Amino acid sequence: MSSRTSTTALITGAAHGIGAATARALAQAGDDVVIADIDLDAARLVADEIRAAGGAATAHLLDVSSAEGWAALEVELRSAERLPGKIVNNAFFHVLSPAHELSEIDWARQVDVTLNAVWRSMKTFHDALTAQRGSMVNVASVHANFAWPGYSAYAAAKGGVVALSRQLSLEYAPEVRVNAVLPGSIETRIWDHADEAGRAAAIAQATLGRMGTPDEVANVICFLASDAASYVTGAAVPVDGGQSTTVAT
Ligand SMILES: NC(=O)c1ccc[n+]([C@@H]2O[C@H](COP(=O)([O-])OP(=O)(O)OC[C@H]3O[C@@H](n4cnc5c(N)ncnc54)[C@H](O)[C@@H]3O)[C@@H](O)[C@H]2O)c1
Repeated sequence: MSSRTSTTALITGAAHGIGAATARALAQAGDDVVIADIDLDAARLVADEIRAAGGAATAHLLDVSSAEGWAALEVELRSAERLPGKIVNNAFFHVLSPAHELSEIDWARQVDVTLNAVWRSMKTFHDALTAQRGSMVNVASVHANFAWPGYSAYAAAKGGVVALSRQLSLEYAPEVRVNAVLPGSIETRIWDHADEAGRAAAIAQATLGRMGTPDEVANVICFLASDAASYVTGAAVPVDGGQSTTVAT
C-alpha cells in the first residue's frame, strides 16, 4: 500500500468536492493519501477510485472537531508508519443565518470544525511535519476578506484560518511551511441549492467570467504543499477567478 519513499498526505473533508479533488491530485503526484472525513462511505469511494487508478489511499472516519478523533488517527497512522508530511485542512461546517439568530451551538460548531481543527491538526502532527520538513495548506475562503449576509461565523472562522496559518508558519519555521488558499465560487455540492440569481452574481464578480472547478483549487493546494513552493510560507493565495478584484461590499 504505502511506499517508504512517498509522502503521506492527510486531507480532511476529502470525501467530496475540493478535498476529494485534492486527494486525487496528490495521489496522482505520487503521495500516499489519507482521506479523513465524517462521511466514511463517501471517503471509501474516493479511496477506492484512487487505488483503482494505481494510487495509494485509505479512508478514515474523522470528525475534525473531536480531539479524541485526532488522537486516534495519530495512533493509527503512527502504527502504520504513515505519519503525514503534508496536511490539507479542508473540512468545514456552516449555517447561514443573521448573526443574532445563530444558536450558541451553531456558532461554536462552525468555529470548531472550520477553525479550531486547523490548530488541532498542528497540535497532533507538528512533530511528524517537523521531522519530514513538511507542509500544511489550509483552505480558507474569500469570506476571510469580504462580507456577505448570513456568513458571520463562517467569515470569522475563515478569517481566523488565514491568521492562524500565518501564525503557524512563523512558529514552525523553518522546518514546516504553512499556507492558506482562499477559494472564490467553486462548483461543488454546496452550490446545489443556489438559485440562478445567486450563481449569476458569483459569476459576474469573477473577472474570468465563470465559477471555478474543484480541480483548479486542488492544483494550487498541491503546488503549495509540494517542494515546488519551497520558498512560499505564510501566504494567503486567492483562487477565485479574480473575484477579489471586483468585490466591494
Ligand atoms: N465551494 C465553494 O464555493 C467554496 C468557496 C470558498 C471556500 N470553500 C471551502 O472549501 C472547502 C471545501 O468545500 P467544498 O465546497 O468542497 O464542500 P463539500 O461539502 O463538497 O466538502 C466538505 C467536506 O467536509 C466534510 N466535513 C464536514 N464536516 C466535517 C467534520 N466535522 N469532520 C470531517 N469532515 C467534515 C464533508 O463530509 C465533506 O466531505 C471548505 O473549507 C470550504 O469552506 C469552498
